[in-house]
Amino acid sequence: MNYSKKTVKDVEVSGKKVLLRCDFNVPQDKETGAITSDKRIVAALPTIQYLLEQGAAVIACSHLGKPEASFDKWVKKQTEKGKDPASLTQEKWQKSLAKLSLAPVAKRLGELLGKEVIMAADVVGEDAKAKAAALKPGEILLLENTRFEKGETKNDPELAKAMASMAELYVSDAFGAVHRAHASTAGVADYLPAVSGFLIQKELDFLGGAIANPKRPLVAILGGAKVSSKIGVINNLLEIADTIIIGGGMSYTFSAAQGGKVGNSLLETDWMDYSKDMIAKAKDKGVTFLLPVDTVCGDKFSPDAKSQIVKAGEIPDGWEGLDIGPETVKLYCDAVSGAGTVIWNGPMGVFEFPAFAKGTEAMAEALSKTSAITVIGGGDSAAAVEQLGYADQMSHISTGGGASLEFLEGKELPGVACLLDK
Ligand code: 3PG
Repeated sequence: MNYSKKTVKDVEVSGKKVLLRCDFNVPQDKETGAITSDKRIVAALPTIQYLLEQGAAVIACSHLGKPEASFDKWVKKQTEKGKDPASLTQEKWQKSLAKLSLAPVAKRLGELLGKEVIMAADVVGEDAKAKAAALKPGEILLLENTRFEKGETKNDPELAKAMASMAELYVSDAFGAVHRAHASTAGVADYLPAVSGFLIQKELDFLGGAIANPKRPLVAILGGAKVSSKIGVINNLLEIADTIIIGGGMSYTFSAAQGGKVGNSLLETDWMDYSKDMIAKAKDKGVTFLLPVDTVCGDKFSPDAKSQIVKAGEIPDGWEGLDIGPETVKLYCDAVSGAGTVIWNGPMGVFEFPAFAKGTEAMAEALSKTSAITVIGGGDSAAAVEQLGYADQMSHISTGGGASLEFLEGKELPGVACLLDK
């Protein structure tokens, strides 16, 4: 994939109406609807501020959550969940949609920008069209949740065309959603010149740089619960990395594949052969493949579990691996200290339980000290680095969970592929 894309700086934006796709899919409190982290809104500010300062009229849009845009489908899904069909009214459906309105995002964005963010009542309806038409240079309008439109997730050309008709230029800064081929993330680029914002540019520079042109040695740290969710990443990185480090729940499948005893640890028996093959493949390719040499195990999956340190592959019956052990930490930290580039995707243990967070914490600390370029995948690894207080010391923390994973798998991302090449 070509990571060199035109940006807002490569085109004339002054006096233009710009459709700006952001990823404002922010976490919200289930009860009150309050935004619990505005990180994604803050991440979009540099592009928004640049466009406004240059005299563009910004028509921002985003999805939020997974609303069901069709009443019939909503009824079907709720019925499958065991709800009484007679209780499923249009009113309740509308209420479920209202919970996913972007109005709270408009409010927060306005506070951060220090200016009014005009909110549209729909995406391509009368209100959005009228407000977009009246929008002046230096003003910003936020369309309603793009997933309120049935055509969004189907990448319906009619919806894409309707969105595009409100603007003269399409800018995407929604890195978290570039793995989705939806009308607002990819389809609109068929009808407007399409360039990236600063956030996508930064993500492509760091993630793309780490994959396409890494300062070597390139060390990839892969953790998380399941081997099955990391197959694509392991396959791709085996072709690129100098060292692959395995931690987290998935390491027990590798251990069992080598004949180790894993007790009650997470185990994917269907992926044991694959794990064995990967170890052999790494050897063939001259890639250093590091697996845990010791394990902190617990007598139950709980923050107050009793714990003990055992050699990898010697987990007693009734116990389960919940973190990498101190010898493993030392081995892995040594690998990181000599790296030119480090990519990290997935925690080393159950870092949500303080007693089993030491492995993840030690890796975060090692990354904060290395002179290597450090790139953290979105999702759990980003959350771990932030929760443990090391975020400021990393070269880059991706804002995309699914998107950064697909990036590391080497997949083409529709929301990037649709942008103009430099
Ligand atoms: C994310 O939160 O990972 C992105 O906003 C994409 O959201 P989605 O998984 O609902 O498409």
